[in-house]
Amino acid sequence: MVSEISPTYEVPLRIQFRFATRADLPLLEWYGQYTHFRNVYQRTFQEQSLGGRWMLVADLNGFPVGQLFVVPELSYYPDTGYFYSFRIMDHLQGLGIGTRLLNYAESLLWAEGIRGVIISAVKTNRRARELYERLGYHIMREDEGRWQYTNHLGQTVEVHEPCWILEKHLQ
Ligand SMILES: CC(C)(COP(=O)(O)OP(=O)(O)OC[C@H]1O[C@@H](n2cnc3c(N)ncnc32)[C@H](O)[C@@H]1OP(=O)(O)O)[C@@H](O)C(=O)NCCC(=O)NCCS
Repeated sequence: MVSEISPTYEVPLRIQFRFATRADLPLLEWYGQYTHFRNVYQRTFQEQSLGGRWMLVADLNGFPVGQLFVVPELSYYPDTGYFYSFRIMDHLQGLGIGTRLLNYAESLLWAEGIRGVIISAVKTNRRARELYERLGYHIMREDEGRWQYTNHLGQTVEVHEPCWILEKHLQ
């Protein structure tokens, strides 16, 4: 009879928070899960090179397992940054990586003298909204959440995701 005991082995994970490099771009597609955002990633990286965006990643052994993009200062909302494209790879969610990635991004804004930040949460994503509220974000308003991007095949994709816009005053 084969033993029913499954051996286990605990692995310590060291996560580093940093800016994305060009080498991260194909890796950010997460083996096909986000191939459709290839152009978005390339364009955002170019904007980062010009100083208008930050592409922040949570790095595990050289692989970007988490991502958060930042508009450091909104043109229509002075002294306020905007967070978007926030995600952690499925199998690493719920381990505190997302919280620390947000903390890192907030600390970078603070160092730049930015004192406010905005993030949106799709209305159906209750857990994300609850996470933001636990971290001090407050609902400001609703938004239709209409935007579009060009996918890796050159097609325009229209997105409609009604969302909450949340705000936090950094301290
Ligand atoms: C939201 C997300 C970035 C948070 O990162 P994380 O490392 O999982 O978060 P942490 O471990 O620091 O915090 C855990 C909290 O995150 C939220 N969360 C966890 N898994 C989640 C998931 N699959 N979807 C949405 N929120 C999630 C919950 O509030 C959770 O707290 P709870 O376990 O008490 O419910 C991550 O879960 C994720 O990528 N989710 C899918 C994509 C997404 O929803 N992005 C946010 C768009 S607004």
